[in-house]
Amino acid sequence: MSKLLSPAKVGGLQLSNRVVMSPMCTYEVKKEDGIPTPFHFAHYGMRAISKVGLIITESTAVDPKGRISKNDLGLWDDDQVPEFKRLIDSLHYLGTKVGIQLNHAGRKAADEDSPVAPSAIAFDENSKTPEELSIDQIKKIVRKFGEAAKRASDAGVDMIEIHGAHGYLLNQFLSPASNHRSDEYGGSLENRFRIVREVAEIVKDNFSGPIWVRLSLTDYADDGNENSIDDWRQVGKWLETADVELLDVSTGGLLPVGPNFPVHDGYQTRFATELKRSVDIDVSTVGLLDNPGLAEYILQNNQADLIMQGRALLRNTNWLNDAAKELHDKKFTAFDASYGRGQK
Ligand SMILES: Cc1cc2nc3c(=O)[nH]c(=O)nc-3n(C[C@H](O)[C@H](O)[C@H](O)COP(=O)(O)O)c2cc1C
Repeated sequence: MSKLLSPAKVGGLQLSNRVVMSPMCTYEVKKEDGIPTPFHFAHYGMRAISKVGLIITESTAVDPKGRISKNDLGLWDDDQVPEFKRLIDSLHYLGTKVGIQLNHAGRKAADEDSPVAPSAIAFDENSKTPEELSIDQIKKIVRKFGEAAKRASDAGVDMIEIHGAHGYLLNQFLSPASNHRSDEYGGSLENRFRIVREVAEIVKDNFSGPIWVRLSLTDYADDGNENSIDDWRQVGKWLETADVELLDVSTGGLLPVGPNFPVHDGYQTRFATELKRSVDIDVSTVGLLDNPGLAEYILQNNQADLIMQGRALLRNTNWLNDAAKELHDKKFTAFDASYGRGQK
């Protein structure tokens, strides 16, 4: 039996296997009201039927001004809760655990006329220059994370992931390249981390389940103006102290550049493993992990505790079934009896 496809308790959740659907925006909310549509029921339902252990639904805005696009999901209003609850209930019915990723896009709110950010620095030359947030506005955004967490809790999620990666608002605060503030939210690493700590605390006040945080461990900055791996170790320890149960390690997105080394299978796992050495909580890895043998190798060698799959699950809803065959895992059955005859 493979480690990848065996049940495990990870990040405070009892999972049927260690394959997680990584959060992926679908931009399918055509009515621009943040409410799940039949697309979301079918899209996530298919992955639940194929036995993904945990589905983390796509980036969900805590504030309409913090949407990546107007077609994002959102939990900034109580009216959005009932349809989220129906979606989550249906995925539970299909046997998967469900998490939600809460996000504020900050300067990367592409459809927003006046985006906000820690400092008035645009993402790139084609992006709007954001307005610098006042301290009052920062506190309001923190409260919005808390309110969205309460709504996610009411909708029945099993866990909440705080999006601190890929150059969105919390990542903009963390990184010295996008945060030039001189008040208590800028300057030292501790100050740049302050909003993340406050968000983690308020989410915890409003949700009794596990909290995970996604981080980008490098900005691929040519000039070296970014947090060092030691800084990230410190951030990891602070998050552990804040009772965060899992660090979801990704990279990039803060600057308009890609990796500064050849991209290969598992190219981000080295960052997850680095962080795992410094914390006592679980760490997940993501990024070109389509090869089941590689995913199993990473788990067996304790390089990470959980495997997130993004594009592989977009391409192939039967990824787990194919992985079981490749890993010769005869105990894992991807299909219930209703699909059994299709197996011959
Ligand atoms: C279409 C698409 C949408 C994405 N949206 C999100 C998102 O909402 N939140 C997030 O943290 N990452 C997002 N990502 C990044 C994925 O979660 C994942 O980290 C990345 O695709 C690398 O994993 P993969 O090689 O398995 O695809 C997105 C990726 C894709 C391809």
